[in-house]
Amino acid sequence: MPEIKFYKHEPLPMEMHKVKIVQQLTLLPVDQRVRKIREAGFNTFQLHNGDIFMDMLTDSGVNAMSDNMLAAMMRADDAYAGSETFFRMRDKLEEIFGIPNLLPAHQGRACENILATRFVKPDNCVIMNYHFTTAKAHITRVGGRVEELVKDEGLVSKSNLPFKGNIDLEKLEACILKETPENVPFIRIEAGTNLIGGQPISYENMKAATDIAKKYGILTVLDASLLQDNLYFIKVREEGMKDKSIREITRMIADLFDIIYFSGRKFGFARGGGILVRDIDLFHSMEDLIPMFEGFLTYGGMSVKEMEAMIVGFDESMEFDVISQGPQFIKYCVDQLEAYGVPMITPGGGLGAHLDASQFVSHIPQQEYPAGALVCALYICGGIRGMERGTLSEERNADGSERFASMELVRMALPRRVFTLSQTEYVIDRVKWLYDHRDMVGGLRFVHEPKTLRFFTGILEATSDWPEKLAEAYKAEFGADQ
Ligand code: F0G
Repeated sequence: MPEIKFYKHEPLPMEMHKVKIVQQLTLLPVDQRVRKIREAGFNTFQLHNGDIFMDMLTDSGVNAMSDNMLAAMMRADDAYAGSETFFRMRDKLEEIFGIPNLLPAHQGRACENILATRFVKPDNCVIMNYHFTTAKAHITRVGGRVEELVKDEGLVSKSNLPFKGNIDLEKLEACILKETPENVPFIRIEAGTNLIGGQPISYENMKAATDIAKKYGILTVLDASLLQDNLYFIKVREEGMKDKSIREITRMIADLFDIIYFSGRKFGFARGGGILVRDIDLFHSMEDLIPMFEGFLTYGGMSVKEMEAMIVGFDESMEFDVISQGPQFIKYCVDQLEAYGVPMITPGGGLGAHLDASQFVSHIPQQEYPAGALVCALYICGGIRGMERGTLSEERNADGSERFASMELVRMALPRRVFTLSQTEYVIDRVKWLYDHRDMVGGLRFVHEPKTLRFFTGILEATSDWPEKLAEAYKAEFGADQ
């Protein structure tokens, strides 16, 4: 589908779908939102969904399904063992990725558990372009370490580079030599690098990185959870790729890797996950872990209905008109906010629009969690739920000191096919207001701090009464009922 032209307007991002089922939203008045965020321990994961107007926490498991996905659920074949649904899923993934062996798992982190349990030994080093929280947690759980070798330019918030998720190839080779290949169980390449702003990695870089891994006999693993955004960017941004179909690009990427895993909550628009393993012996060596942790080998903890929906979702992820919607809405959001002067991660990537909290609220010291505070302020100022992706999402060093994140981000995810352009405009508007009142946002401190993945369940408090003062200013602008 070519870009739709307007008569009296610049082109706008266009929804290439229509709404068939809706969920009613409510916007609580601002005073109630202050109360709700306090009750949630200043942790947006602890908010109740009914208290949220725009849920931009994540795209995980909340992408809209299509009519064809819902229809497919009806033919789910329930069986403890040998479900026909599983064979359909395996065949579809083989058709797309060219890998015949599938281990099903209930979601992405379950795949990470299986991979870490099978391959990582104490003091092993897993090299990656950048970590994802759960991937790293599973590797460190079994005593391994993570080395992140994204190019330095990937961590520069304002940029016009097309592939900020690229791994530094020189550092990769040096790291393998320093660690010795025997101590590197696998190299993990994350498509659509989540924690640095959903930034893509180029095909060329994946090829070069996996060539290096092969030279040293190291397994190559692709985290394909955010592959669909990455595919879009390869097609539109990478030299020599624009005439290739999404399916062709997918296959070129897949051919580089020994193992591909994914969260079906992202890739596939449903809820589940899976690991594709090229080598049959390797596949057999991992098989026993699935019944142990997930469920039998033909469902892996997933509902067969979700599996059927996902099979259709995989096909839809191969359609340019489907996968372009997220990045185009994100670009619109990022461009509008940047034009207003709001510090954003640029260029817009996949997954969501990312505010650079270290600039946005530069007066909040990193030990008071600027991104954590900003994400709470965003909820107060519009009922918008984002996600902290900064120091709160890290874990402390072994000596108890804070491990400061290299980027302090607030992510406003745009789940696929969910929000309209007017809702996106509302978010842009409220972020602009918040930016103009940014000095009113104060810090946070922990009241209850879990050791692992503290951002999920931690309870915090504001360092002053800044939430109430911010709400007063908001009321003066928009009224008490907004
Ligand atoms: N890998 C990547 C790149 C992810 O973004 C996620 C999840 C996972 C693995 C784990 O998958 O949630 O199905 O267990 N990301 C979600 C997010 C949670 O909101 O960014 P999962």
